[in-house]
Amino acid sequence: MSAAGKESKRVLMVGLLCQDILNLVDHYPTEDEDVRCVNQFWQKGGNAANSACVLSSLGETTEYLGTVSSRAEGSSALKELQTFGVLTEHVVYSDCPIPTSCVIINTQTGSRTIIHGTRNMAELTAEDFSSLDLTRYRWIHFEGRNTVEVCKMMEIVEDFNKKVLFVSKEYAESCGFASAKETVKKLLQRVKKGCTVLCAWGDQGADGITPEGTHYHCQAFPPEKVVDTLGAGDTFNAAVIWGLCRGTGLEGALTMGCRIAGQKCGQFGYKNLHS
Ligand code: FRU
Repeated sequence: MSAAGKESKRVLMVGLLCQDILNLVDHYPTEDEDVRCVNQFWQKGGNAANSACVLSSLGETTEYLGTVSSRAEGSSALKELQTFGVLTEHVVYSDCPIPTSCVIINTQTGSRTIIHGTRNMAELTAEDFSSLDLTRYRWIHFEGRNTVEVCKMMEIVEDFNKKVLFVSKEYAESCGFASAKETVKKLLQRVKKGCTVLCAWGDQGADGITPEGTHYHCQAFPPEKVVDTLGAGDTFNAAVIWGLCRGTGLEGALTMGCRIAGQKCGQFGYKNLHS
């Protein structure tokens, strides 16, 4: 136990915090078109940061860890994260502009098209990570960004074998898989023994497979109107972690992930999501 004594164990989300600039348009632009957006707003983004906000809103004590711009726009993204109750005391500051995504949200479909610029922000290193007191955490989630360093960090975590792998649809498709079911089944054969594999597939729902090969599928829970799918995958990951931390088992956690990701698609941003 840490010096904090009886403090409840935290979930730690390791990865990106960035700035998202959302441009809401009434149709998807064609190349070289000059369009006005119907609305534009800024919000913090990044897979780990978004998932951290969702977990915190669901009542989980959650910490975010990553590199953060020490400039004004970095502080404002960090403050936004903190307003969700996310703890941030171990972040590593860097005097770089904040990584930024320009996002086009088509209001007819809710689709999100992301153009991301890292702006040379340094990635978190295993050395940064090694200073953490791992006994404070019940769950550590790594966003697969700087994979060399992330692998070293995972080796630092004692129970590396008992892990959960979330595979994105984009990554699965790049491997040539055509569905979430195919993805989890095929990847289970490739990952380390003892690993649970999950994959969400947009409006097709999500699939998961236990280390023993028991496969589960859960359908999507679409909202009445899909308005914003940005961060739906991050929300899914958070809600699954929340379920697994509460002992729902894989099937229950998949359902939780699909339900809350569905809620998110019916609203902008990550506020007021509930189990
Ligand atoms: C959504 C998101 C955005 C961010 C982008 C980075 O999943 O986390 O908030 O701009 O992905 O890849």
